[in-house]
Amino acid sequence: MKQLSDRSAGFTDSIIRRMTRVSNQYGAVNLSQGFPDFDPPKEITDRLAQVAGEGPHQYALTWGAQNFREALARKQEHFSGMKVDPDREIVVTCGGTEAMMAAMMSVCNPGDKVVIFSPFYENYGADTILCGAEPIYVPLNPPDFTFDGNVLEQAMKQDGVKALVLCNPSNPSGKVFTQEEMQVIAELAIKYDLYVITDEVYEHILYKPHRHVYMAMLPGMRERTIICSSLSKTYAITGWRIGYVIANPEVTDRVKKVHDFLTIGAAAPLMEAVVVGLNFKDDYYQRLQEHYTHMKELFVSGLRDIGLKFVEPQGAYYVMVDIGEFGYQDDYLFCEELAKKVGVGAVPGSSFFKEEINNYIRFHFAKQDETLLKALDRLADIRVKMKR
Ligand SMILES: Cc1ncc(COP(=O)(O)O)c(C=O)c1O
Repeated sequence: MKQLSDRSAGFTDSIIRRMTRVSNQYGAVNLSQGFPDFDPPKEITDRLAQVAGEGPHQYALTWGAQNFREALARKQEHFSGMKVDPDREIVVTCGGTEAMMAAMMSVCNPGDKVVIFSPFYENYGADTILCGAEPIYVPLNPPDFTFDGNVLEQAMKQDGVKALVLCNPSNPSGKVFTQEEMQVIAELAIKYDLYVITDEVYEHILYKPHRHVYMAMLPGMRERTIICSSLSKTYAITGWRIGYVIANPEVTDRVKKVHDFLTIGAAAPLMEAVVVGLNFKDDYYQRLQEHYTHMKELFVSGLRDIGLKFVEPQGAYYVMVDIGEFGYQDDYLFCEELAKKVGVGAVPGSSFFKEEINNYIRFHFAKQDETLLKALDRLADIRVKMKR
């Protein structure tokens, strides 16, 4: 048989999803993969039930249903102040995952380079490679996950760099980039004429006093920012697979075509059902923030009581715990043993870092109180069960 593709040859299966399988194997509380174990808002699921009877059940317009795009444009303007043309500047995709792939394929030629902050959400490296481009990693240095502006500039000025990917709020670090940091990135993007492809799927999951700065709203950035985002996290519907790209019409024109060939479109009945969510008023987002703050506080105060070292999350719904004290060289082995001996699933931090860093594991905390309390109860024994 002929060899399969070089581009896919280096891929391992997703470590995050592998850790879910490991958790299931040992009956562990699964705090590895990032999905909530509570229901979406009832207004959305009630509307879904109606739509099941009424339709639509056939393909929507490839770049997304009109009423969805109009509601999304209104929401985007409400939160960011950005005026968005629903007809020319939005492409609805199958999750933020497809949004990122379609954005990168629209921007990159084989041989181009893409700057990615490390630690990073694992899809970015794979997306870049699938485009035939080369990822260039810039460290976000733990424990505060700051970056060195000079190192960033050295990466961004390299020949062939086309874009930078910015995950904000950030998975896995929980970092929320400050206005000043965003300004530094924006100025370099303008100086070296790069696109900034943002991943803003956690834009509404923030812990006070941190706030979300929209890259597209910084001076000179509207035309070079390609927003990739999703409804997965905002409405607890990770299984619905609805995301979107917002960018200037020249970019979205290209994204529409890539998207059409990749998937044709997002699921029409689900798009219709979630319009009610896009129309939620501010009180929904306030409750969302309170709910996430509650879960974060519950979980990190438990970690603090156990005496574990961790990086306080500023946004998103993950916490990086420093496992240096346990003396493991291999954080993957640590996570396997954690699932087996302690009964809690986590993701090895090294799967997110390009650098040789293996003293972190990532827990996900978008869970019901009882799930988090069960995990904390099991973690109380961690020193006895995991010490080498
Ligand atoms: C940073 C980031 N981007 C994208 C995604 C995937 O989003 P979606 O479900 O919309 O494809 C995730 C999922 O965990 C994520 O953490």
